[in-house]
Amino acid sequence: MRLLCPICGAPLSREDRRWVCPAAHSFDIARQGYVNLLPVTRKHSLHPGDTQLQVAARREFLEGEFYAPIAETLIETARQLPIRGEILDVGCGEGYYSARLAQALNLPLTGLDISKEAVRRAAGTYKQHQWLCATAAHIPVPDGSAGLVMSLFALTLPEEFHRVLIPGGYFFRVLAERDHLLGLKSIIYDTVMEKEKAPDDRLPGFTLERTVPIRFAFTVEGKQVENLLEMTPHVYRIGKEGARRLKETALLTDQASCVLQVFRRD
Ligand SMILES: C[S@@+](CC[C@H](N)C(=O)[O-])C[C@H]1O[C@@H](n2cnc3c(N)ncnc32)[C@H](O)[C@@H]1O
Ligand SMILES: [Zn+2]
Repeated sequence: MRLLCPICGAPLSREDRRWVCPAAHSFDIARQGYVNLLPVTRKHSLHPGDTQLQVAARREFLEGEFYAPIAETLIETARQLPIRGEILDVGCGEGYYSARLAQALNLPLTGLDISKEAVRRAAGTYKQHQWLCATAAHIPVPDGSAGLVMSLFALTLPEEFHRVLIPGGYFFRVLAERDHLLGLKSIIYDTVMEKEKAPDDRLPGFTLERTVPIRFAFTVEGKQVENLLEMTPHVYRIGKEGARRLKETALLTDQASCVLQVFRRD
């Protein structure tokens, strides 16, 4: 996918170990192969996005294939649609889902995440794809660059996603449902707080074409119980008691409950 300079918006050209724009703004390619296109002015903290702890836990958990049914649903759904062009994974994390989807569809993939730790891991493992540290609010690619934008358990920015998609392109969104990981939540919280409102399924500039429920049970043991907690934002919300109860949990059977929404760009 072609890249734009995050400072002046001009096209970037690839040199040996860096990307550079005509105004000489230059971005080094890291050892692992990703490029950091997040200007300091758009960084609202020193280490934005998911932390090293969360990314490492998610990598280990996903590699255990507990969430393989989510990847399979993405692949199965995508195979039924006339998807062409390139895939752009926004908030890609460590790359598990989009790398599998890109391989199944045999399409080029670019993944971006604001967490350097996440793209570092994605680039280290899935070397054949392009990985960017960048913000979803200003995606450093030209208009109409992607045939499929995906955002899984991550943020939705309809205007920016519309801009980077070709007309008729697709947007795949996976969201957690209210009863997602209820087993985990009922261990770590005294009372399980429900999210108040259902997510909006109307996005300006898009038409919702399909809603595919994804529900399945899975069982984790030992370190994977910890990983399950640590890969979610709950790790920063639980109290001492909840943490203690989870530590005592050697085996946990839980239910993943999410939904894949397929939007088509108007
Ligand atoms: C819950 S994780 C999901 C990761 C991945 N999609 C998955 O399902 O495994 C959300 C991701 O969004 C990233 N993120 C948060 N704010 C972002 C932003 N403004 N731009 C790009 N990525 C962002 C986080 O760093 C994190 O990796
Ligand atoms: Zn520039």
